[in-house]
Amino acid sequence: MRAIRRTRYGGPEVLAVEHCVEQPLASDRVRIAVRAASLNPFEWHHQRGLPLLMRPSSGWTAPRDHWLGVDVAGVVVELGADVDGDAVDLHVGDEVFGGAPGSLADRADARPNLLAKKPAAVSFEEAAAVPLAGLTALQALRKGRFHEGHAVLVLGASGGVGHYAVQLARALGASRVVGSCSTRNVALVRSLGADDVLDYTRGDVDSLDECFDVVLDIAGGAPVHFLRQRLKPGGSVVLVGGPGDGRVLGPATRIVGGLLTSAFRPQRVVGVNASWSAEDLQQLAGLLERGHLRSVIHRRVSLDETADALAEVEAGHVAGKIVVVP
Ligand SMILES: NC(=O)c1ccc[n+]([C@@H]2O[C@H](COP(=O)([O-])OP(=O)(O)OC[C@H]3O[C@@H](n4cnc5c(N)ncnc54)[C@H](OP(=O)(O)O)[C@@H]3O)[C@@H](O)[C@H]2O)c1
Repeated sequence: MRAIRRTRYGGPEVLAVEHCVEQPLASDRVRIAVRAASLNPFEWHHQRGLPLLMRPSSGWTAPRDHWLGVDVAGVVVELGADVDGDAVDLHVGDEVFGGAPGSLADRADARPNLLAKKPAAVSFEEAAAVPLAGLTALQALRKGRFHEGHAVLVLGASGGVGHYAVQLARALGASRVVGSCSTRNVALVRSLGADDVLDYTRGDVDSLDECFDVVLDIAGGAPVHFLRQRLKPGGSVVLVGGPGDGRVLGPATRIVGGLLTSAFRPQRVVGVNASWSAEDLQQLAGLLERGHLRSVIHRRVSLDETADALAEVEAGHVAGKIVVVP
């Protein structure tokens, strides 16, 4: 098999495409022939071993895990000895998407409960773009106590998480959705269902003269106290991500700071830490199938082009998702 492999932390130079011998399949896993994988900031954080906060689990001086990638779409080619295909409704030949560690490869092994059936009308590339970013968007809305009729502001509406958040808010019954991005992505964000778009190169959150039930801060460009001022009574700011400048805590620096400075204020400010959920993945699959959710593919790359593509993700201006076709 061919896979992205790395044995040290660093820039794009630490990633290499290697031919490796396929290991025997663990008894509780499902092997997938990868048709597409996708890139998230998650991968460059692991490539660099930053923020340092992650090192106790990822390895102090060098990565414990030499593979990279998590989002996947492909075809089931083998079930582990302890996987009951009928019980988990997965069989050889099924087209699936979800999470598989080391998905930047032409084969990857996943826990069955991290996979959902890929809707037939959705391409492998579109499906592979969804898992981590889609789950984050869905869980961020839930953390913000979003419900039908709410007005939602999505800061960072053109990126991986944001472009799903705009569509999910719309599909789940938001009364109004406003997204922020730079000038070149304004038309894209409108096409995803935003009623209005704030071009952050022309005005900041402070320039908005309306309030929202839920503010999803995915881009991290505005001070948290500006975001609190944009809340309706009972509303929530959900801190999802942003550039962050701490080598130790990374984007979590801002999230922790925002939570601390909001502790004794009436407005609700919460952080979100996305988790893998079979139920949420099923919900996303249903929305894809009904055409309520689509993936914007910024570009498609091969395994050999992945290191450069990940540097582009790190630069922070991808519109939608970059998909890797092995
Ligand atoms: N908490 C969690 O569980 C969780 C899970 C996943 C991701 N995250 C974090 O969430 C953040 C976003 O992830 P992502 O996958 O969406 O990243 P991404 O795809 O790299 O986001 C890029 C997008 O951000 C936009 N952007 C950059 N600066 C902006 C600003 N000041 N205002 C508005 N938009 C801006 C860019 O638009 P322009 O090109 O128009 O500037 C671009 O389209 C990252 O920090 C990531 O680490 C957190």
